[in-house]
Order: sequence, then structure tokens, then C-alpha cells
Amino acid sequence: MWSGLSCRTLWSLLMLRCGLVQAAGVPVRSGDAGFPKAMDNVTVRQGDSAILRCVVDSRVTRVAWLNRSTILYTGNDKWSIDPRVVLVANTKSQYSIEIQNVDIYDEGPYTCSVQTDNHPKTSRVHLIVQVPPRIVEISSNIAVNEGTNVSLSCIATGRPEPVVTWRYLSPKAHGFVSEDEYLEITGITREQSGLYECSAANDVSSPDVRRVKVTVNYPPYILDARNIGVPLGHQGILQCDALAVPAADFFWYKEDKRLTESRKGVKVENRETYSRVTFFNVSEQDYGNYTCVAMNRLGHSNASVILFEILQPSSSPLLQEETTAALTPLKGPGAVHDGNSGCPPCLLCTALSLLLFLIPLSLLLPSAQF
Ligand SMILES: *[C@@H]1O[C@H](CO)[C@@H](O)[C@H](O)[C@H]1NC(C)=O
Ligand SMILES: *[C@@H]1O[C@H](CO)[C@@H](O)[C@H](O)[C@H]1NC(C)=O
Ligand SMILES: *[C@@H]1O[C@H](CO)[C@@H](O)[C@H](O)[C@H]1NC(C)=O
Ligand SMILES: *[C@@H]1O[C@H](CO)[C@@H](O)[C@H](O)[C@H]1NC(C)=O
Ligand SMILES: *[C@@H]1O[C@H](CO)[C@@H](O)[C@H](O)[C@H]1NC(C)=O
Ligand SMILES: *[C@@H]1O[C@H](CO)[C@@H](O)[C@H](O)[C@H]1NC(C)=O
Repeated sequence: MWSGLSCRTLWSLLMLRCGLVQAAGVPVRSGDAGFPKAMDNVTVRQGDSAILRCVVDSRVTRVAWLNRSTILYTGNDKWSIDPRVVLVANTKSQYSIEIQNVDIYDEGPYTCSVQTDNHPKTSRVHLIVQVPPRIVEISSNIAVNEGTNVSLSCIATGRPEPVVTWRYLSPKAHGFVSEDEYLEITGITREQSGLYECSAANDVSSPDVRRVKVTVNYPPYILDARNIGVPLGHQGILQCDALAVPAADFFWYKEDKRLTESRKGVKVENRETYSRVTFFNVSEQDYGNYTCVAMNRLGHSNASVILFEILQPSSSPLLQEETTAALTPLKGPGAVHDGNSGCPPCLLCTALSLLLFLIPLSLLLPSAQF
């Protein structure tokens, strides 16, 4: 009679040898009972429990489960010191163990070894551990100057190995900008600023997605600065629109003198994308050539705007309406950029005065027919 350790040792030695035998032997069933017998792999997610089932019959005299060459259980005896390994069934028809809270290092071959009529047989099951994709390292948000080479990276883990892709989140952009962990942008332009999204995907669960904000700095660019005609004693507004990253600081000059807020009757408002000068009651001295300077740490840009006099509208309400309507969409004299000479203000005045003389004529004609 064998007993105690010597018995176990012999039995395990026997099984070790048998483990090398490729015989399919007793069918092994994996996962839940619904799986077909042919299935010899058990796939579980990291953290879940795996049940390793071994089908036996009444002729079986000894049973054991091994992890590679290490015995986990023989019959009701637990050999493994791992508390996550538990026996779930040792009956006439089934010998099954459970591995709780499965981790990636549990992945590998497990062997069910049985002895029937003194003939040892083994059957293998491969435990496959899946891990949802997870981005473990990603570039931080960055601000760079236009023209810089930008490199973004996104490192992800998971089992199977996740597929990592980069997308540019822009209504104009479609598809991927990179189909691996790295995204290289050579000589970035201002149009390429915005959000970049990294996605790590495998078929275990939904992809892990993270975003990186790329800010592209560039010097100010003045979009619009228009000449404005205003009658004496009226309110006049000069506006200068500029794009810049970081946002521009604006300065106004008239001839060589800096225009300051402190001047009575003048208000200067600076916003992110524009600057506006309001003359509440335009006087003779206010007319002239103003220069708007937009500046950030990458550079500056300027444009000149002319505040010119137009004829005082008459008291006729009809006429006043016509006049303002004609003045508001003043597309005629455009902004003068960077010292390129535009129309002299006097010429503009003449043109506008002519226009104003024509309006009352056309207005008078229909009324004269009454
Ligand atoms: C079981 O898993 C192994 C290793 O991943 C693989 O080679 C084998 O084809 C799988 N077998 C089945 C039946 O899926
Ligand atoms: C299986 O064996 C591997 C390698 O020795 C070990 O890391 C793992 O913890 C074992 N798993 C179980 C459930 O015994
Ligand atoms: C940016 O990348 C281009 C192309 O790879 C290279 O020729 C250039 O020298 C790089 N510029 C800088 C500043 O690294
Ligand atoms: C505008 O200024 C003129 C001259 O200083 C003054 O006579 C007039 O009353 C002012 N108009 C308004 C609306 O303040
Ligand atoms: C406007 O721009 C021109 C050309 O860049 C420059 O020479 C000039 O000094 C600028 N004017 C101001 C007021 O900054
Ligand atoms: C307005 O001033 C700017 C800068 O001083 C100058 O370059 C431009 O020619 C002037 N425009 C007119 C119409 O005089």
C-alpha cells in the first residue's frame, strides 16, 4: 500500500511522464457545459474565473489537474498553495477546478491526468487570458510654433496586442492620420492645430480612447480693417480683426502718436480676435489715418484705417435712413495694409459727397409726382 508523500511523488512522476504523451484520452471540456467537446481552449478575461473541466467515468481511479508540470490537485487533495485555485467538482463523471481572478501569468497549458485500469491518460486545455486595451502612456497637450516637427506617441497594453491608431478630430479630416503608436507631423501648420485622438483596440472590449490637444502658435494676421466715413458729431467705430496664437495684443496709432483709452470721448476695446476704437462724438481732429498694430511673441502685423468725414445727413428721416444704409456696407475703400498706399481720404470724401447728392435727387423725384 502506498501512502503519504511517497504515493504522491510516484503518482506525480507518473503523470509527468504521461504529460509528454500526446494521447487525446479523456475528453476535456472547457468553459461552461455548452461548449463542444472539441474545444480545447478556455478564454477568460483578466480578473474573471476560469473553470477547467475534465470528463471522467466510473472506471477512472485517479485524477489530477496540472499547471504545466506542477500539480494543482489530485483527487480532493490540493497541492497548489494558490488560494485562487479551488476544486469545483470531483464526481463520477466530472473532475473540475476553478482558477479565480485569473491573471496573465496563468495563461498556458493545463493538463488533466486520469488513470483508468492502470492506464494513465492526459488531456490538455490551453488557458487564454484576455486583457482589455488600455492606453498607459500618451503625449501631453502641447503648444508649438508653426513649422515645428511634432511627434505624438500613444502606448497601449492589452491581450491580444491592441491596434493603435491616431485620428485628427476635424470636420474636414477623414480616416486615420497614423496607424501605429506614433504620429509624426513635419512642419506643422496652423490648420493642423486641434485635437488628435488615439484609440487602442482589440476585440476584448470597447477601445480605449484618449485625446491630445495640439496648439500651433503663429504671428498675428490682420484679416480686416476698413476705412470708415462718419459725419461730424456722430459716433465712429474703427475695427481691426486679427488672428493670432497666442491671442494678439492690439495697439492703435494716429500718425506717430499712440492712441490711449484715457483720451476723452474715445473708447478702445481689445478682445481676443479684434480691437475696436469708438469715437463717441467725432470731431475734426479725429479724422485721419490710424494704424492698428497686432502683436504677440511670434511677431506683429499692422494695417491702416482711415476715419474720414462724410456729409452731415439732413434732418429728413427718409434721407437719414438712406444715408446710413449706404454707409454701413461701405465696401469701397478697403483697409490699407503695411504701408501700401490706398485712396487719399479727400478723394473718398468727394466720391461719397457725390453719392449723397445723388440720393436726395432720386428721393425727390418720385415725391414730386404727387
Ligand atoms: C488554442 O490556443 C492555441 C494557442 O493560442 C492555438 O494555437 C490553438 O489553435 C487553439 N485551439 C483552438 C481549438 O482554438
Ligand atoms: C501556472 O503556472 C505559472 C507559471 O509557473 C504561474 O505563474 C501561475 O501562477 C500558475 N497558475 C496557477 C493558477 O496555478
Ligand atoms: C523636420 O523634419 C524634416 C523631415 O523629416 C527634416 O528635414 C527637418 O530637418 C526637421 N526639422 C527639425 C527642426 O527638426
Ligand atoms: C459733440 O461735440 C460738439 C463739439 O464739442 C458739441 O457741440 C456737441 O454737442 C457734441 N455732441 C454730442 C452728442 O455730445
Ligand atoms: C507696420 O509694418 C511695417 C512693415 O512691416 C513696418 O515697417 C512699420 O514700422 C509698422 N508700423 C507700426 C506702427 O508698427
Ligand atoms: C496711413 O499711414 C500708414 C502708416 O503710417 C501709411 O503707410 C499709409 O500710406 C497711410 N495711408 C494713407 C491713405 O495716407
